Amino acid sequence: MDRPYIICHMTTSLDGKIAGDYLKVERAAEFTDLYEKIHERYGSDAWMCGRVTMEEHFTFGHKLNLKHKDVPPIPRTDYVANKNADSYAIAVDPSGKLGWTKNSIESWNEHRTEEHIVEVLTEQVSDAYLAHLQNMGISYIFGGTERLNFTVVVQKFKKLFSIDKLMLEGGGFLNGSFLNEGLIDELSLIFVPIADGASNSVTLFETSSFLTKQPPVNFFLKEVEKLEDSGLWLKYVTKHD
Ligand SMILES: NC(=O)c1ccc[n+]([C@@H]2O[C@H](COP(=O)([O-])OP(=O)(O)OC[C@H]3O[C@@H](n4cnc5c(N)ncnc54)[C@H](OP(=O)(O)O)[C@@H]3O)[C@@H](O)[C@H]2O)c1
Repeated sequence: MDRPYIICHMTTSLDGKIAGDYLKVERAAEFTDLYEKIHERYGSDAWMCGRVTMEEHFTFGHKLNLKHKDVPPIPRTDYVANKNADSYAIAVDPSGKLGWTKNSIESWNEHRTEEHIVEVLTEQVSDAYLAHLQNMGISYIFGGTERLNFTVVVQKFKKLFSIDKLMLEGGGFLNGSFLNEGLIDELSLIFVPIADGASNSVTLFETSSFLTKQPPVNFFLKEVEKLEDSGLWLKYVTKHD
């Protein structure tokens, strides 16, 4: 395969929400922990999240002040700062908004190692942001001129970073983008036995103005595991064996 095997690994409520008040219920903490354990069990080379998720959990909304920087034009070519990392954290950040201040995410629990950051950008990103990434030693790749083509992006992961197994870990808009391009091989769902009930929170797969809605996608059950406290771990694949 000229791209990694891609597993979409997510926690959802009974009503398919990936964010919301149900995650604040005390009981949910056990499932968040299981999510991390199962992530480790997959033994992937990299994991990937959208800009919103990265901002919420890793850069905490930090904004870079790059306006005053007078930077000469930088060619829109991929930049590999580390091709031998043990693991990669990949951020989909089309216009370069994430305020990274170093080139790796430190291990934040016993199931995650330190991960080298790779940004996925469009060519619309500013020269100042590219210069910042280079100064920090953060790798970046281009996924398109104005819109991202994830089929090309995942091929680059394999070619430039030797990534054979990738965990796609939300949010809903990024997952929806991969679903649209037929790039999900496996779905790993930690089903939390709580119904959120909100009508406006993000679900497992979302669509938006930057996506063309494709026909529904079929999944086939591979495995079910009963979890403690009424939870389920469901594994689906998109291709029959
Ligand atoms: N339950 C779980 O397992 C789980 C896992 C991960 C995240 N989450 C939750 O999910 C929520 C965020 O989800 P979300 O769906 O709102 O955001 P998201 O997928 O994390 O990020 C969306 C952003 O990523 C960029 N992006 C994604 N797909 C793109 C495409 N095809 N073309 C161009 N840009 C693209 C865009 O960035 P720009 O706006 O910069 O253009 C877009 O606004 C958070 O609350 C997070 O905690 C839950």
